[in-house]
Amino acid sequence: MINIYFAAGQALWPKYQDPLRAALQDAGIQASLSAECADPSQIDYIVFAPGGEVQDFTPFTRCKAVLNLWAGVERIVGNPTLTQPLCRMVDPAMTAGMVEWVVGHSLRHHLGMDRHIINPSHIWDPTCPPIAAERAMTVLGLGALGQACAAALQGIGFKVRGWSRTTKAVAGLETFHGPQGLQTALTGAEIVVLLLPKTTETENILNAESLAWPARGAVILNPGRGHLIDDFALLAALDSGAIGHATLDVFRVEPLPADHAFWAHPRVTVTPHVAAETRPTSAARVVVENIKRGESGLSFVHLVDRTRGY
Ligand code: NAP
Ligand code: GLV
Repeated sequence: MINIYFAAGQALWPKYQDPLRAALQDAGIQASLSAECADPSQIDYIVFAPGGEVQDFTPFTRCKAVLNLWAGVERIVGNPTLTQPLCRMVDPAMTAGMVEWVVGHSLRHHLGMDRHIINPSHIWDPTCPPIAAERAMTVLGLGALGQACAAALQGIGFKVRGWSRTTKAVAGLETFHGPQGLQTALTGAEIVVLLLPKTTETENILNAESLAWPARGAVILNPGRGHLIDDFALLAALDSGAIGHATLDVFRVEPLPADHAFWAHPRVTVTPHVAAETRPTSAARVVVENIKRGESGLSFVHLVDRTRGY
């Protein structure tokens, strides 16, 4: 019997229990699935989420993989007790949600929608926005989410540049990589999207120096992680007009503290880490795909590289 321990927190268990059972059944896998664990040494797979029950993986001596329900792994990847393979979540429904968030917020700024939505003085201003082909966008991070967003933005017609750690050839996308490619990727960008993981290399990637590289008045969209931006440098860039607006979904401390300057800043939009939630039905299939692979001796998909940190 395969024993699966759902250690992603009691709050998620009611949402995931039925989709996981259905996915196991569809895959023809007979398993015991429980949110309780009497004997860690008998567990074959752990379904994990930050804030869940397991902090110490040492007693899970038989565990073949830890299957994270989140795309980001920064809250588990450095756990010194974790010796088992760690897989992150790449969920097609989560990707769809991220594409919608990024495209929606890009179009808000591209079209200048706020001018018409918030117009208490009833000003008739027929200034026409440029079309997308005249708007330079840069996506930092060309992984599962960054590439999907870049493709959707290109589909609308935006001029999109992308930046990643390693060289990437993506059809129709002008790509740059490594620390040496960052300035070129950002220079002149009018909308910058952050879809990088939180690692020691990406922390404060947008700082006082790099916030000066996009076009004056550029918009920053951050659905990646709060740590990617130096908050004080961003506030200074907003106040000086170097950056025109920041739409932020993720923060160094979540929930964003009530007294944080982002809440009150007129050119900051706060969304409460809702850009792309993992969706139980599709995510359950991804989890079960990895269990199936583990049982067949195949390599896991979406395996995290511990040394890279993502
Ligand atoms: P992914 O597939 O692992 O892609 C990460 C991308 O970042 C890759 O292109 C990688 O480059 C690049 N990268 C990593 N370190 C870099 C560095 N030092 N310099 C330049 N590029 C670097 O991750 P994903 O699935 O797209 O997710 C990205 C992040 O989105 C997650 O880690 C998470 O923080 C965030 N997220 C947020 C939400 C939300 O609701 N707000 C939801 C899901 C995910 P290579 O391609 O060269 O490896
Ligand atoms: C959400 O932020 C995730 O990493 O899945």
